[in-house]
Amino acid sequence: MEKAVTTTIDEALCNGCGLCMTVCPSDTITMEGKKAVVTGTESLNCGHCMAVCPTGAIQVTSLNPALSTFETFEADPTWLPHGDGNIRDLVNLMQSRRSCRNYQAKAVPKDILEDLVKIGISAPSGTNSQQWTFTLLPDRLAVLQLAQWVAGFFRKMNRTAENAFLRKGLALLGKSELEHYFQNHYESIRDGLDLWEKEGKDLLFHGAAAAIVVGSKKEASCPAEDALLATQNILLSAHVLGLGTCLIGFAVEAMKRDRRILRWMGIPGDENTYAVIALGYPNEKYQRVTGRKRALVRYFSQDLKCSV
Ligand SMILES: Cc1cc2nc3c(=O)[nH]c(=O)nc-3n(C[C@H](O)[C@H](O)[C@H](O)COP(=O)(O)O)c2cc1C
Ligand code: SF4
Repeated sequence: MEKAVTTTIDEALCNGCGLCMTVCPSDTITMEGKKAVVTGTESLNCGHCMAVCPTGAIQVTSLNPALSTFETFEADPTWLPHGDGNIRDLVNLMQSRRSCRNYQAKAVPKDILEDLVKIGISAPSGTNSQQWTFTLLPDRLAVLQLAQWVAGFFRKMNRTAENAFLRKGLALLGKSELEHYFQNHYESIRDGLDLWEKEGKDLLFHGAAAAIVVGSKKEASCPAEDALLATQNILLSAHVLGLGTCLIGFAVEAMKRDRRILRWMGIPGDENTYAVIALGYPNEKYQRVTGRKRALVRYFSQDLKCSV
């Protein structure tokens, strides 16, 4: 993991307030007399010191300001204090994002795809490793190509699952995965593949005009969490930018089990894939937000009973 210190402090600007030392998670900075000094040998390079400094004395040179500049809108560079912001709008956005399964045949501009990646990477990441990766499928042709590979994987899965002898034999050995697949997915996948082959109906990507494959380098400390947190940022902001999205778990499964798909896409062997986001201009509109089925919530407390 890259931990080299890239913090620089302009001694002349430092007023000695000590705030940078207070927020630094890796003891990179200490106070010497009335000045902040870089004394640590490692840094998360999170930029907290740079963000907190009242005089602008600190630079963290490994942080790239271009990644906070967007092509399709102007971002606000000021920091939003805790308690500010509009919770009503934020929750409304979260509840209005729905998985979109009807898309217009309209291309998604490359600028928007790239802005979505930049928005994605404002998510937290384990040890600030930021080892996420984004493979952009910028047009319908690329989406269809991935769909073909995924369809090929499931065609093969279905052929294997048709073998009752193999299914039962594996189940007897305690490996009931194939039987589970047969019981739960075989039929719907067979029907989906039929519709795809005979009528060109795309039940996998739902006709999406673009897609983003979100992965992580295997060496990241929390690769799955990092990729999925970035993914949620993308889903929410895509809605605000006018796009519908849908996570395609079937594609993730195929890419996980048949690594040739990754190779075909030019994704190197030191990466795993955690999300495939179908996206495009929606051809559907809702009237209201709904709710969720349930949440299992408990308190770890002697006294409190949960009311959710
Ligand atoms: C990990 C994951 C995988 C999913 N895979 C698919 C998929 O392959 N195809 C699809 O149409 N929807 C897929 N979805 C969407 C869910 O069906 C959807 O999120 C859920 O029904 C709730 O609806 P909402 O997203 O509109 O709130 C997936 C969602 C998640 C979180
Ligand atoms: S936050 Fe800025 S002004 Fe305050 S001690 Fe650190 S470098 Fe100096």
